[in-house]
Amino acid sequence: MINERRPDDMVRITTPQLADAYIEEQIKALREQIGDKKVLLALSGGVDSSVVAAMLIKAIGQQLTCVHVNHGLLRKGEPEQVIEVFKNQMKANLVYIDATDRFLDKLAGVTDPEKKRMIIGGEFIEVFAEEARKLDGIEFLAQGTIWPDILESEAGIKAHHNAGGLPEDMAFELVEPVRILFKDEVRVVGERLGLPANMVYRQPFPGPGLGVRCPGAITRDRLEAVRESDAILREEFAKNGLEGKVWQYFTVVPDFKSTGVKNGKRTFDWPCIIRAINTTDVMEVTVEHLSNELMDHLVQRIINEVPGINRVLYDFTPKPPATVEYE
Ligand code: XMP
Repeated sequence: MINERRPDDMVRITTPQLADAYIEEQIKALREQIGDKKVLLALSGGVDSSVVAAMLIKAIGQQLTCVHVNHGLLRKGEPEQVIEVFKNQMKANLVYIDATDRFLDKLAGVTDPEKKRMIIGGEFIEVFAEEARKLDGIEFLAQGTIWPDILESEAGIKAHHNAGGLPEDMAFELVEPVRILFKDEVRVVGERLGLPANMVYRQPFPGPGLGVRCPGAITRDRLEAVRESDAILREEFAKNGLEGKVWQYFTVVPDFKSTGVKNGKRTFDWPCIIRAINTTDVMEVTVEHLSNELMDHLVQRIINEVPGINRVLYDFTPKPPATVEYE
């Protein structure tokens, strides 16, 4: 299984039957590879790590320890869903770390986008490594590496973001049960493993999370405005049949204020920018056009429900020239 490659003639997993066959085969292979040893997994709640967790829970149960690090930049309801699905429903051995203060304290006053990314990535590895050191007898590290990750790292397009990063003394053997799958196959397998549809069909969410949607120095109040407006946008997209149809959609709250008026009184608050895009390869993206009715409804909800917002703007810019994220 280590360094396993996708066979050239492998049939694309598109049906429940094919997914079930893959799951059965993997469970057997995982039990053979792991025996009675212990496995550690960084569980973000994203599609790939969630499917890996569900597969390992089925194969080895309590021999798996999942660590969910909440860096304070997750979307509304995400840590709660990870705890509900994996700890309460699947009875997994889950360690939940609320590291919000640690991340936000380190990020305080940092305006440079690349520096913010580095702090978030570096701190994540530190928190995870600290937890790993507290656990005894772990021999394996599970990862949600998927086949495009391997192809892209081999082609030199991007460094393999899963492998590596941990301190050198923490040498684990890797367990990668979705390594030979494409993303659409991971989703079908995830559904068959009993994961909720809104977890399996999630839109992409960047590693630095809401941190890149709170441009400039992150403050707790502005971050909260991003989180609340994003939750409203997701709720309305789901209600209006756009969830799963539009490739990615989110809000951004930039670091400037403008004058407004509410109940006859002057306000001086942030704008909230809505971005909704479609793409196949993320190299080029087009903008989703919303109906005027939905747009008006979103404006009303966001200005009335989100503290600190007095304007709502829509980003009509394709990529290129604008990237998807603001930082
Ligand atoms: P950009 O902004 O480069 O985004 O047009 C393209 C896609 O990549 C996602 N993205 C990231 N994902 N870590 C990630 O895991 C990151 O640092 C990151 N930056 C952007 C973005 O959400 C979009 O889907």
